[in-house]
Amino acid sequence: MNNAQKTIKRIGVLTGGGDAPGLNAVIRAVVKTAIREYEISVLGFLNGFGGLIKNQARELTENDVAGILPRGGTILGTTNRDNPFHYPVERNGERIFVDVSDRIFENTSIQEVDALVIIGGDGSLSIAKELNDKGMKLIGVPKTIDNDLYATDQTFGFDTALTTATEALDKLHTTAESHHRVMVLEVMGRNAGWIALHAGIAGGADVILIPEIPYNINKVAKKINQRSNQNKKFSIIVVAEGAKPIDGDVVVQRRVEESFDPIRLGGIGQVVAREIEVITGKESRVTVLGHLQRGGSPTAFDRILSTRYGTAAVNYLFEGRYGHMVCLRGSSIDTVPLEESITGQRMVSLDSDLLRSARQLGISFGDSD
Ligand code: F6P
Repeated sequence: MNNAQKTIKRIGVLTGGGDAPGLNAVIRAVVKTAIREYEISVLGFLNGFGGLIKNQARELTENDVAGILPRGGTILGTTNRDNPFHYPVERNGERIFVDVSDRIFENTSIQEVDALVIIGGDGSLSIAKELNDKGMKLIGVPKTIDNDLYATDQTFGFDTALTTATEALDKLHTTAESHHRVMVLEVMGRNAGWIALHAGIAGGADVILIPEIPYNINKVAKKINQRSNQNKKFSIIVVAEGAKPIDGDVVVQRRVEESFDPIRLGGIGQVVAREIEVITGKESRVTVLGHLQRGGSPTAFDRILSTRYGTAAVNYLFEGRYGHMVCLRGSSIDTVPLEESITGQRMVSLDSDLLRSARQLGISFGDSD
C-alpha cells in the first residue's frame, strides 16, 4: 500500500461551471471505481464550490449512480459563481468579496473527506489549483462543450455539442434548399471555433466563421453569390458566437458578474444574416442553437471519454498525483499539472489539417476569395 492509499478513506466529488453532457457519466465512474476498486466511500458536494463552502453534500452509493450514464446535466447541480477565493458577502450594507477558502478545509475535515475530484472548465480548475496550492489533495477532470481547455486533446461534452449542431445543420439544409435561402446557424464555443469548425465540416456548411479567423463580410457574400452563379440557390453559414469581422469586435449579449469569465457572447449570427441579406439580396434567416448544445444525452464517444476520465481520476488520486488534471493525449489518458492546464485557451490552429481540408473542399472562412 502506498502513502496515498493509506491516507485516502473517502473522496469528495463536485461539478463546477456550465453543465456539459457527460458530467453524470464521470460522477458514475468516480463512484463505482472508488467503491469497487478501492473500497472507499464518496461524498458528492452540491452545486459546485457552493456545496464545499456551505457544507452541502450527500453520500453517493452505487445505487445513486445507477441509470445516470445516459443522462445529461449533473445530479449534483452546478454553478459558475461561488469562487471561494472571491466570495461575495454583505458587510455594513455593502457587497464585498472575501476569501472563504478556509471553510472548504473545515468542511472537508468535518465530512472526513481526504481528497477531491473537481470536474470543471477553466474557472473551476483555476480554483482547484489555488486550493491545491493551499494544501488540498485533489485532481481535475476537463469539462466543456467548447473544447478550449489547454493541455488536453479533447474535453468531454464537446462531441455531444457538435453532434447536436450537426443535426441542426442537416435540418436547416432542407429548409434552405426548399426556400432558396441563406441559413445562418450561430453556435457556442466562447472565444474558440471548435464547435463551429467541426459541425460546419460534418454538416456540409458553405461558410464557417470562427474567432481565430476574423472575416470580411464582402468575401462571405462573394461566396454566396458564387454559389448562386453555379445554380446553388441556397447557402449554409455556421458562425461561432465568438466570431468577429476584421474591422470589428465580438457581439456581447450580457455580463454575468461573479462568473470566472463574465462575458456572455451572442448575437453575431443576426449581424451576419442581416448584412448578407443587404449585400446579396438573398433572403436570410438565423438560428441560435444556444443551450440545446449543452443538453441531452451524451454521445457514445462522450460517455466513453467521461468514463475513462472518471476512473483515471480516482486511480491517479491513489497514485498520489495531486494537483493534476486528467487529460487525453492522442488516444491515451494521462495527466498534466493543473497550472499547465489553465495557462490559456486552446484555439483552432491556423495550420491544422482540418482547416486545410475544409478550404480544399471550398468552404469559405470569410478571409479569402
Ligand atoms: O462554456 C460553455 C458555454 O456554453 C459557452 O459556449 C457559452 O458561451 C457559455 O457557456 C454560456 O454560458 P451561460 O450558461 O452562463 O449562458
